[in-house]
Amino acid sequence: MGGREREGHDQVERRTIGATALAVGAVGLGCMPMSWAYSTSRQRGEESLRAVHRALDLGSTLLDTADMYGPFTNELLLGRVLRERRSDAFVSTKVGLLVGDQHVVANGRPGYVRRACDASLRRLQTDVIDLYQLHRADPEVPIEETWGAMADLVRAGKVRALGLCAVGARSARRPGARLHDTTIRQLERVQQVFPVSAVQAELSVWSPEALETLLPWCEARGVGFLAAMPLGNGFLTGTLTPGVGFEPDDLRARHPRFTAEMMAANQPIVAGLRRVARRHGEHVTPAQVALAWVLARGRHVVPVPGAKRERWVAENAAAAELRLTERDHAEIAELPAARGSWD
Ligand SMILES: NC(=O)c1ccc[n+]([C@@H]2O[C@H](COP(=O)([O-])OP(=O)(O)OC[C@H]3O[C@@H](n4cnc5c(N)ncnc54)[C@H](OP(=O)(O)O)[C@@H]3O)[C@@H](O)[C@H]2O)c1
Repeated sequence: MGGREREGHDQVERRTIGATALAVGAVGLGCMPMSWAYSTSRQRGEESLRAVHRALDLGSTLLDTADMYGPFTNELLLGRVLRERRSDAFVSTKVGLLVGDQHVVANGRPGYVRRACDASLRRLQTDVIDLYQLHRADPEVPIEETWGAMADLVRAGKVRALGLCAVGARSARRPGARLHDTTIRQLERVQQVFPVSAVQAELSVWSPEALETLLPWCEARGVGFLAAMPLGNGFLTGTLTPGVGFEPDDLRARHPRFTAEMMAANQPIVAGLRRVARRHGEHVTPAQVALAWVLARGRHVVPVPGAKRERWVAENAAAAELRLTERDHAEIAELPAARGSWD
């Protein structure tokens, strides 16, 4: 392959999500950066709209959003595309987190889940959500109750399949526990109520923890895996310079791996991805190598790189054509572990 992109999605690699065998393009599109988490001054609605259209044109059909992105504006933006192109897209959204002035709180009450789903459907301008994910469990509500309400939405035809997002916080981990122990316990509980079709969790070259237990758990049960933050919040693309500085509303302004010192310390990871990229052609990029590495973790894995620019969307979609060699994998496995931790 090359950095080339390819129009038309007849030949794009497809992957399936869960036992319900919902087919999607191998590389999805994370829509969060269009409305949330990164610098608001760089969010441009029209450019984002073009990026979503481009993703669909290129067969990146899985659009991952959440009601809390914005809040709400990300779903509204997608709704503008979906009202024209619903059949081209696989709509994946989330419920369970509410945004307050300075905080985010979980709400897993069944009545709230029902109302939130109707509101998401209205914003998305569709009558069905392909994958409805529980963003975070509510500590005040047994997860079975929340999941039961979500299962009712499948029975009512408002939702096709259910997914669970991993409890991500590294800082909340008990000493000696592995990152995804809590998530796996939650998965075991909700599976008793209604089948899980997909799990979403961070997975990238610099955050590989999901490989330990979570990815094998999914593979053994035919559950799909949506790899969030596959580009390390942009770091693995090699386009961010150490000390670049982030606006206060950008999550990277507080992220321990994005201090000038840690960005400099982690450059060998980007250099390694760049070395691999060069072997595949002058137009191949570190971002594409980072995505090809995620894609190679299993046929049940679909990375959802976040992007709000058409150019990135095209580059990322083309990563599905990049096949890493054994030598590439061996070199990536030898890269130093990322420095900068929440712990
Ligand atoms: N379930 C959860 O709790 C959870 C948490 C976090 C994220 N997620 C999901 O995961 C998705 C991806 O995560 P993320 O967006 O935070 O991180 P990411 O995909 O690792 O990185 C996104 C960043 O990389 C940049 N980028 C994308 N493609 C690029 C390319 N080819 N070259 C250079 N830069 C590129 C984007 O820039 P631009 O913004 O300028 O386009 C954006 O700033 C989100 O959209 C969301 O759907 C889920």
